[in-house]
Amino acid sequence: MLHDRDRIFTNLYGEQPWTLDAARRRGDWDATKDLIAKGRDTIIQEIKDSGLRGRGGAGFPTGLKWSFMPKQPTGPAYLVVNADESEPGTCKDREIIRHEPHKLIEGCLVAGFAMGCTAAYIYIRGEFIREAEVLDAAIKEAYDAGLIGRNAAGSGYDFDLYLHRGAGAYICGEETALIESLEGKKGQPRLKPPFPAMVGLYGRPTTVNNVETIAVAPTILRRGASWFASLGRPNNTGTKIFCISGHVNRPCTVEEEMGIPLKTLLEKHCGGVRGGWDNLLAVIPGGSSVQLIPKSICDTIRMDFDSLREVQSGLGTAGVIVMDKSTDVVKAIARLSKFYMHESCGQCTPCREGTGWLWRMVTRMAEGRAKVEEIDLLWDVTKEIEGHTICALGDAAAWPVQGLIRHFRPEIERRILEYTQHTRRAA
Ligand SMILES: Cc1cc2nc3c(=O)[nH]c(=O)nc-3n(C[C@H](O)[C@H](O)[C@H](O)COP(=O)(O)O)c2cc1C
Ligand code: SF4
Repeated sequence: MLHDRDRIFTNLYGEQPWTLDAARRRGDWDATKDLIAKGRDTIIQEIKDSGLRGRGGAGFPTGLKWSFMPKQPTGPAYLVVNADESEPGTCKDREIIRHEPHKLIEGCLVAGFAMGCTAAYIYIRGEFIREAEVLDAAIKEAYDAGLIGRNAAGSGYDFDLYLHRGAGAYICGEETALIESLEGKKGQPRLKPPFPAMVGLYGRPTTVNNVETIAVAPTILRRGASWFASLGRPNNTGTKIFCISGHVNRPCTVEEEMGIPLKTLLEKHCGGVRGGWDNLLAVIPGGSSVQLIPKSICDTIRMDFDSLREVQSGLGTAGVIVMDKSTDVVKAIARLSKFYMHESCGQCTPCREGTGWLWRMVTRMAEGRAKVEEIDLLWDVTKEIEGHTICALGDAAAWPVQGLIRHFRPEIERRILEYTQHTRRAA
């Protein structure tokens, strides 16, 4: 479990002001010039050595991603920070922006420098009105103090930072849809390749990173890669912000050590599952886009990328949705299917048509209005979507349904049987 001395986010709950003075007292912007003086290659190597993996969902190694940017760009290059945070069950980036905006701004500067960027854009979800106000004011403070802009923080490096508000579409969190939206177009994902590091925003080399990924970078550089790597376990290092919602006694957002057992996380920070641990039915561990895990797995599972992948789920955004035994789990997944159907941008047939199929079939199954053979058909539909689309929204729609079938097939069959018997009796 995480010691206070290893905490990166020391004002996550807004007990102190977010302002520059208070941020400086917490250690932000401390000798940032010296961090930049390490040079591009050293910064990228330290981020690689720290083992930091992206906090936006996919867990891609951050240092490696930064190294894809051209070494000698012949024109502008950009860092884009993904503050869209629309994943159901996820509420971590908004806390960083509300209470620790200077960690993010300083992170933009060092990450932008490491990648040879001329500017960074923070794309913030449209509904985050107060958060955008705070971030806007914090950016102004940083400009006024000479920390960003010309000769940023006295480093000799010129770096501009812009805040852009989205209009509230889930798909605009996908990095290429986000870039399209930032360019003023309809938020629809682009086919890859070319990848954004080659052709990104305005056709220029671009890296898109999550808010949390960028906000932890200055602390890693200050405290050292080996410190960050000493937390968690190899390939799953550092601290992580978890957001726990649903049937726990005290839902919360908390920074913990990567790899903390799920049971410890819920019992230490959330007052346990409503009605006690034995009243647990299942957990969706990584935001709505990953497969749920039943209690038998929750008993021992650790909250990190590799542990959750081994049980065919994922850490995703670490948005932990807890369901106790009062949950209608089939209906809950049907509701998520409706979300993905609504949010599909419609470019790919498997996603546009398939998400509707999933929603209609799972909704019928929640009531038992189906045939048992249709469960296999439903599985096949998820497999027709998974891996056959332009972006990962298709996978995100398929996986929750696969988790339902994998772990709760007997419950679906029970409902079908009950419904069939009921209609026979009525006839
Ligand atoms: C449908 C969809 C929605 C996404 N929404 C977000 C989001 O709100 N925030 C985010 O950081 N990443 C989101 N992502 C992941 C981004 O495409 C991208 O991988 C991420 O921003 C990279 O940052 P990281 O390397 O720091 O994790 C989404 C992906 C998909 C497919
Ligand atoms: S997978 Fe869905 S959301 Fe993604 S591009 Fe295709 S239709 Fe659009």
